[in-house]
Amino acid sequence: MKITEEMPFQALCKTWQPVCLERDLQQREIISYTLLNEEIVIAKLPDGILAARDLCPHRGAKFGIGQIVNGNLQCPYHGWEFDSAGSCQEIPSIPGDSPIKQQACLKRFDVQLRYGMVWVKLDDDEMAPLPEIPEFENDWTYLVGDPVPTGAGFRREIDNYLDMSHFAFAHAKTLGVAAAKVITGIDITHYEDGFQMDAPFPELEGADTGKLSRGHHRRQRIYLPNFTTIRQSWNDGDERVLVHIPSPNTQESCTMFWALAISPNFDGPRPEDQMRFAVSVYAEDKEMMENQRPAEVPIGNEIGVMVPADRLPITYKRAIRKFVLDAMLPPEDRLKPLEQREIVDSYLIL
Ligand code: FES
Ligand code: CO
Repeated sequence: MKITEEMPFQALCKTWQPVCLERDLQQREIISYTLLNEEIVIAKLPDGILAARDLCPHRGAKFGIGQIVNGNLQCPYHGWEFDSAGSCQEIPSIPGDSPIKQQACLKRFDVQLRYGMVWVKLDDDEMAPLPEIPEFENDWTYLVGDPVPTGAGFRREIDNYLDMSHFAFAHAKTLGVAAAKVITGIDITHYEDGFQMDAPFPELEGADTGKLSRGHHRRQRIYLPNFTTIRQSWNDGDERVLVHIPSPNTQESCTMFWALAISPNFDGPRPEDQMRFAVSVYAEDKEMMENQRPAEVPIGNEIGVMVPADRLPITYKRAIRKFVLDAMLPPEDRLKPLEQREIVDSYLIL
């Protein structure tokens, strides 16, 4: 099958993507978001959360500028009301029961709450469940960051996250010019749902961030298609896990959702200060990504001029291609995880 530029979005419709934070939905009750080119609305109703197209079936008004009335989402234009199942409960211009109400049902998207975020899946088919990250649900301290709209495609964002040789340059101000230019000892392990990188992370002499700039072990995990974690482990037993998901808006933009968790009695900066530092590091990444061309990493076979330090981005590119092609098949024809793993392994040429 020939892969096309549209296929990644078709594949990601079959996966869970974050669309807003639980705390923001709590406060605003109605939120509009563009997920995979689809304008959707998320409404917090008394009996559940409704996620649906942000388009009224009557005359196409936008629910996102509507309000919640009688426990229903009310369209701002002619006052039609919808409950959390998407059923039309009220058409003010037709008092009493009417079969038209049945015709006016909204297609409801699957929703779940996890890691302080609201997750939506646009397609009924499911390619991958949401990964389990126990550190965000046990006695660790965790903090969910404000999402960051980013003017680059989601694969650009993962490509940047996996890039091991930009620290001393793109992050000269935050991580310090002494950040290692060569990271050695990178190990890659493949799993049924993605892959993992293990590497020793050297001391960052130029940075004034206490423990965060001290040498540690770094483990980066990709859960296909776009859910990533970084686990940092220090010699004294302290650990920190950063979750990082570029949720695709359009082909050339995504919103980066993230959260961090620190182990009990973490001996280092407070979580709020760590997040502030992460925001300034990400601002440097964002500037790079938003100025790269093309705005999205091509999904085809083109690779560009690569060096061994680019091994991880190449691994991702091949894994996501495989994931996307697999998602185009009916569920019963998809490769079994083990076969999938062997195929991805055979791509490793560096
Ligand atoms: Fe929504 Fe008319 S457009 S009620
Ligand atoms: Co970076």
